[in-house]
Amino acid sequence: MCGIVGAIAQRNVSEILLEGLSRLEYRGYDSAGICTIAGNKFSCIKTTGKVKVLKDEVNLVGCPGLIGIAHTRWATHGVPSKENAHPHICDHLALVHNGIIENFQELKQELIAAGYSFKSQTDTEVLVCLIHSMLKKSSSVLDAFKLALARVKGSYGLALVDLNDPDTLYAARSGSPLIIGLGIGENFIASDTLALLPVTRRFIYLEENEIAAITTRAVRVFDLNGCEVDKKIIESDLDAESISKGEYRHYMQKEIFEQPTSLQNTLIGRIIDDKISNETVVGIDDNTFKDTNFIQIVACGTSYHAGMVARYWFEELTGVATNVEIASEYRYRKAVVPDNALFVTISQSGETADTLASLRLAKEQKFKNSLSICNVNGSSLVRESDYTLFTKAGAEIGVASTKAFTAQLLSLLLLALIIAKQKQAITEEKYKEIITSLRALPALCQDFLSCDKQIAALSEQFSGKHHCLFLGRGVMYPIALEGALKLKEISYIHAEGYAAGELKHGPIALIDNEMPVVVVAPDNALMDKLVSNVEEVRARGAQLYIFVDNKAQLKNDKQTQKVALPSCPEILQPILYTIPLQLLAYYCAVINGTDVDQPRNLAKSVTVE
Ligand code: AGP
Repeated sequence: MCGIVGAIAQRNVSEILLEGLSRLEYRGYDSAGICTIAGNKFSCIKTTGKVKVLKDEVNLVGCPGLIGIAHTRWATHGVPSKENAHPHICDHLALVHNGIIENFQELKQELIAAGYSFKSQTDTEVLVCLIHSMLKKSSSVLDAFKLALARVKGSYGLALVDLNDPDTLYAARSGSPLIIGLGIGENFIASDTLALLPVTRRFIYLEENEIAAITTRAVRVFDLNGCEVDKKIIESDLDAESISKGEYRHYMQKEIFEQPTSLQNTLIGRIIDDKISNETVVGIDDNTFKDTNFIQIVACGTSYHAGMVARYWFEELTGVATNVEIASEYRYRKAVVPDNALFVTISQSGETADTLASLRLAKEQKFKNSLSICNVNGSSLVRESDYTLFTKAGAEIGVASTKAFTAQLLSLLLLALIIAKQKQAITEEKYKEIITSLRALPALCQDFLSCDKQIAALSEQFSGKHHCLFLGRGVMYPIALEGALKLKEISYIHAEGYAAGELKHGPIALIDNEMPVVVVAPDNALMDKLVSNVEEVRARGAQLYIFVDNKAQLKNDKQTQKVALPSCPEILQPILYTIPLQLLAYYCAVINGTDVDQPRNLAKSVTVE
């Protein structure tokens, strides 16, 4: 989704801004722009397409200045074009914006009546004109900014510069994340810490409805009433290298192969004396979940699939009734909340608009407490939840979530064990058995990655295919859904996941010899049932790709290809069987020649509804 970078320094800022934009590319965008101030005038350059095009243009014509703002735009109002790209300028003000101004049409009519005219179709241009119009009623740009925001309905992360005061950078946030980076004699703004890692690791997180005035020497943050707010400085544990591709061709590939390490990182310090330490979840004590009677999990996309797996684990290991729901649905439903209910959100970014809105709703409902499973320290979800379990997957750049998903699964399993222990719902034997399995996970993950070459070869057979089905049963059903989501989002092959037992209730009509069917079939209690479902598909001519345990008695034939995977404990199967599906999606995307790390129309962090 859109990215913002802003800088004020005693050196030329255009390089900092462009490097920041490059580091935000992973979020997804369709055009980019930059605006600096030098010699009492704006240098404003906008381009469609990649940041590289903008960089080339800046190198050609120059964009000097000690203050500036820049933006990558993911079109909402108006097509991707130069005119609609940010920054938008009104007289001596220039603005970049993430989010959506819902009442922009009404405001636009008022401004047209007051004599303003517009070059773009965007809500952002309306907002910069609105701020400008408020200057008549106020004594400063900061006041005009506040007055304008009071008229706005919707969500925003904003960075504003004023030609008449090139010593101040302004920022505001409501619903769209924005951080301030602190340098020495220079300060920055961005929508994501990753953008600023080459220049600082010290950050201030703007909260909802806060507005900031930033100079080279000072950062002042105000609330809606104009009262100055004391802000905490948070040091990031990421470094600039966290977003290098290393020897890999794509970030996604690197992130898939990083999983033995990322899973190890999720575990580090969490198992102490054969017990999952309470410190695994920030803020809890021995009794936090003792009375928990109901768990509601809410998330989107891949994180939702992690929640679906967790439901099996929570109910089996803790005995607590668990519901899992897509955030965009939950937030508009009148859910019945029993006593002693725990609200769990899952999110890689911690900024997903629907998940955040669901958490805010849960706080109004009668949930006893809220817990986020999140990969980003300092994110909105983390700041607004009672407790947090950090997934510790490290920065994930590829739009398709891979290592964050397996880290979410592992984190949810740790949480299930903590709750089970507090509720005394699990036998000592079972608990120990799972702890032993967890210790083996990183090495097993490495073993699973050795199917890489076989999957690369097998992917060739998907070339030219337009549809694909993924089947799984029980806890592997959400993994089939995740396999299908991965394939469709990056290879653009239409793929659907089904619970294998559901196939004969409709989707089996789609099966013919042009339809590849991927079956996730580890050795578990539902294996025999799954085999019967597979026979129904085989009888209708489907091409079968079956991911099984290497001990399984299954022969390759004209219709069936087996991918034999290492034996592993049943509890770890959802985590480990995800890996070959990620590889399949990756290689199909490479063969189809898509933009693997930034697939079309997608954004890494979905900060609008
Ligand atoms: C995953 O591959 C997707 N790109 C997407 O479904 C993602 O999981 C979803 O948007 C939720 O994001 P979050 O985990 O940051 O909340």
